[in-house]
Amino acid sequence: MSDISVLMTSVGAYLPKKILTNEDLSAFVDTDDEWIRQRTGITQRHIVADGELTSDMAREAALQALQRVGLDGVDIDLIIVATTTPDDTFPSTAAKLQHQLGAVYAVAFDVQAVCAGFVYALDIADAMLRSGRGKRALVIGAESFSKLLDWQDRSTCVLFGDGAGAVILERDEYAVEWGIRSSILHTDGAHRDILYVDGGPSSSSAVGHVRMEGNKVFRHAVEKLSSAMDEALAAANMTVSDVDWLVPHQANIRIIDGMQKKMQLPTDRVVRTVDKHANTSAASIPLALSVAVGDGRIKNGEVVAFEAIGGGLVWGATLVKYGRPQK
Ligand code: COA
Repeated sequence: MSDISVLMTSVGAYLPKKILTNEDLSAFVDTDDEWIRQRTGITQRHIVADGELTSDMAREAALQALQRVGLDGVDIDLIIVATTTPDDTFPSTAAKLQHQLGAVYAVAFDVQAVCAGFVYALDIADAMLRSGRGKRALVIGAESFSKLLDWQDRSTCVLFGDGAGAVILERDEYAVEWGIRSSILHTDGAHRDILYVDGGPSSSSAVGHVRMEGNKVFRHAVEKLSSAMDEALAAANMTVSDVDWLVPHQANIRIIDGMQKKMQLPTDRVVRTVDKHANTSAASIPLALSVAVGDGRIKNGEVVAFEAIGGGLVWGATLVKYGRPQK
């Protein structure tokens, strides 16, 4: 990579107020708290209120990220929203947000890579800022995943939740070896049938529901994520000992624990929010990052590793030296 750095200087998050616990779920679907906790680590999830949109959550997360570093919408040149649950088929949720934030100079578009959407969007924003197309970007993961769930299907409806997280990226010519140090993305469309939505504008008139062969997805997860992480480390000229924090996609505690073991990281160096947030798809990494920056665990200058896998299959890993050099 060139001497130009793309810094990650702020993070914000938003969770809907309504909480659905495992007990609440077991009132209308054949499941129980013990099964869900043992197999997934999830105890509750946040669910959007009636009329609450993906763009509403994205806006709140973005505003928090902007306010934390004293920026406004007009300071932003690029907005990418990673989402599989946009408000409408078009215009993009990002375009709506651009107007709401008064980001009149920003180019805005959505990226759809399901649960890997945030690492995909980071990679695109990094490349665009690095190549000179703007100085500052808002990268947001926002999902109303509850809208895609079949609430009769216990094998999927217990796993997901809603929310949004946002980061600010800033191009910097002087902060050598800060910010996004490497980014690795992969796709293998051959695995389409193990995780998909059975609807969409061209294949059917309905939005559709999530369909998944969970154990097959599980078998791909740790192997693909750890190999992407190895590639990201090599690309950044780093080893695991350089990594201060793993902020993984929050799909399942067993996948997260599997990655911790593969990377041989101490337990307390892995940020886990799956218990409270469940799987919020593209929002899960920035939501978890926001928690760990907010409670003081992740500090300026520490190296954070992200990884995610989602339907496609799509997966990737990113290494970031968080924050900015202090003057
Ligand atoms: N409550 C109670 N029982 C349930 C259940 C639920 N919510 N969901 C499934 N079961 C039952 C199944 O019907 C099955 O019963 P059977 O043995 O009588 O047929 C049994 O539990 C085991 O099902 P299985 O699917 O093999 O369980 P699992 O150990 O693979 O766990 C997942 C299921 C979904 C938790 C697990 O496969 C997983 O986490 N996969 C990864 C999914 C993922 O992360 N996807 C998103 C990627 S972004």
